[in-house]
Amino acid sequence: MQDLQDRVAVITGGASGIGLALGKALAAEGMQVVLADIEQGALDAAVDALRSTGASVSGYHCDVADGASVEALAASVYAQHGATHLLCNNAGVFTGGLCWEGSEADYRWVLGVNLWGVVNGIRAFVPRMIAGGAEGHVLNVASMAGFTAMPFAGIYHTSKHAVVGLSESLFHDLSLQAPQIGVSLVCPEMIRTAIGRSDRNRPAELSGANDTPQTEARLFVEDTIRQAALEGLDPTVIAARSVSAIRERRFYVLGEGGWMDLARGRMEDITAGRNPVLRAPG
Ligand SMILES: NC(=O)c1ccc[n+]([C@@H]2O[C@H](COP(=O)([O-])OP(=O)(O)OC[C@H]3O[C@@H](n4cnc5c(N)ncnc54)[C@H](O)[C@@H]3O)[C@@H](O)[C@H]2O)c1
Repeated sequence: MQDLQDRVAVITGGASGIGLALGKALAAEGMQVVLADIEQGALDAAVDALRSTGASVSGYHCDVADGASVEALAASVYAQHGATHLLCNNAGVFTGGLCWEGSEADYRWVLGVNLWGVVNGIRAFVPRMIAGGAEGHVLNVASMAGFTAMPFAGIYHTSKHAVVGLSESLFHDLSLQAPQIGVSLVCPEMIRTAIGRSDRNRPAELSGANDTPQTEARLFVEDTIRQAALEGLDPTVIAARSVSAIRERRFYVLGEGGWMDLARGRMEDITAGRNPVLRAPG
């Protein structure tokens, strides 16, 4: 999609980190930006900050894990703007720990936001985008964790591998049925955002006494992610890569450096029929 001026972009998880950087970059391209997020205070602050730059921006409270909430978002956006040209399924959360120590609530929360959030976005918006007939684009934010599998983060990897497969199928489906709509799969490396504090948005019904077992592996990896996020790339890097990919209709937007070596190594293990080799980035 070459011409972004005055077109409508919806960004889930738009109140922080990569989503907010996307909102700023797309507003700078002249798009009408809709930020959707579950964290009302951060959402209000993000809308105010963008509006003060002269951007056309609105905010919607939305829980992407809830299909009805995303459907209500789509209905509101179409009532207000009459179209969506760019859908960014970006909202995501992280939790760590050994696969068998994660609670059912851990799995439900992370898969609910990271996988069902993308499913709900596709189901609510893509039929409307197709019916609108205009050129459009879907940008799904997965992770290099979707092409790799490290220990202590099995729930997150599961969610991101699923988004990779879903996005590749979406690309083929749209190429065959509605080629005016492109797809990009954004897989960042470590980025300086608030992902290490994902628990701030964990719903009460998935935060019971036994829902967040404070195991050694969980505490270790969540602390590691918090530290790594502090040293990560600025989210504007991902926003810039994303804008180029939308313009070029490029599907894969992959993290650089050691993460590509990990992904390549994993694929070599698979094609050689080897058991998975544990590799670290860098
Ligand atoms: N930061 C990284 O290093 C990194 C690396 C690879 C991929 N990613 C992915 O990037 C995306 C954005 O994360 P980020 O790093 O900017 O983190 P972030 O915590 O800064 O932003 C995530 C946003 O999602 C929102 N959110 C959480 N649950 C939600 C829900 N149920 N409904 C709606 N919004 C919800 C949060 O309120 C927040 O505004 C995620 O999908 C994440 O998995 C991040």
